[in-house]
Amino acid sequence: DKGGWSSFMAKEVSEGPIAVENTMRGRLTDRGVDLDLGVLDADVLRGIHRIVIVACGTAAYSAMVGKYAIETWARVPVEVDLAHEFRYRDPMLDEHTLVISISQSGETMDTKMAVQHAASRGARTLSICNTQGATIPRESEAVLYTHAGPEVAVASTKAFLAQVIGQLLFGLHLAKLRGTMTDDAIAEVVAEMRELPDELREVLAEQTSVHELAHWMSDTRSVLFLGRHVGYPVALEGALKLKEISYIHAEGFAGGELKHGPIALIEPGQVVFVVVPSPRNEPLLHSKIVSNIQEIRARGARIIAVAEAGDAAVLPYADVVLRVPLTLPMLEPVLQVVPLHIFALELATAKGLDVDQPRNLAKSVTVE
Ligand code: F6R
Repeated sequence: DKGGWSSFMAKEVSEGPIAVENTMRGRLTDRGVDLDLGVLDADVLRGIHRIVIVACGTAAYSAMVGKYAIETWARVPVEVDLAHEFRYRDPMLDEHTLVISISQSGETMDTKMAVQHAASRGARTLSICNTQGATIPRESEAVLYTHAGPEVAVASTKAFLAQVIGQLLFGLHLAKLRGTMTDDAIAEVVAEMRELPDELREVLAEQTSVHELAHWMSDTRSVLFLGRHVGYPVALEGALKLKEISYIHAEGFAGGELKHGPIALIEPGQVVFVVVPSPRNEPLLHSKIVSNIQEIRARGARIIAVAEAGDAAVLPYADVVLRVPLTLPMLEPVLQVVPLHIFALELATAKGLDVDQPRNLAKSVTVE
């Protein structure tokens, strides 16, 4: 039931705030997190030397955000591996390695096989999954359900938000166990996480510019997405969604890579979405992305910035600014991705496409 929405995807985008609330529900205390990961108890987690996150597609992009948060907060090396690459290359695994799988459906064949491979090599396994009782959580030692509610549209939206939140919760839990963050620092993140649902509601309420933008761009042939740090996976996700449901060639790349090749693509009129971190949080990172913007702008690109509401520095260079509220750096992707999801949805709609059932794709990829 689409509940009055034109598509399941539109409905699911609108459910972002509640999905995030549900992922956090019962897991936040006054000043910290309270996670029960069953056999992956405090002793086991303190003995972990390395984490590998395996996933595919959008879930893998959420994992790239998770990597930054977990490494920063818990000081454990984290790698992200596409599940299908992981298991065909004899990865190094032992009982001090935790393999976290991320899957909305819990049925993705490659991710399932990666988990089985990890377990057979003695690694510890944790599933972050949205579907109760699915295969991957059943094959894992412990599970953190995201509780985002069923996702019907092929393109993943609210599940991505919930996957990021699940990993943030895990990162704080691990940081607490390992003593790598002060209680005050944890409390600050928790307080900011509690604000996310309302901030998401604000982002959703401000969609009109995205709608106009999508109409204006319905004949566009190619769109680039640029980001740095946790904005990089957001850029990749924005590009994937556009390919998937709008059938427009789109590519996401890291800002620092521009000079190493992609800048050759910039010609007058090329549309580039730029995911901009808040200048208040990350002045250095912010100045780097602003210089990226200047470089491509000077070559005639049209800039659409996803930027924090108070960021005046992007205004002179951006053709359009899609605003998001201020939050902490690791939490920014949860807000920044939403205008990109809506943009893909609006553009596909403007092109008259079936957003819920894009061609050639299935909701869960249960074959290799
Ligand atoms: C993109 C999308 C896919 C899935 C990927 C993994 O919008 O939906 O890229 O994210 O197929 O699926 P799950 O999370 O079910 O393992």
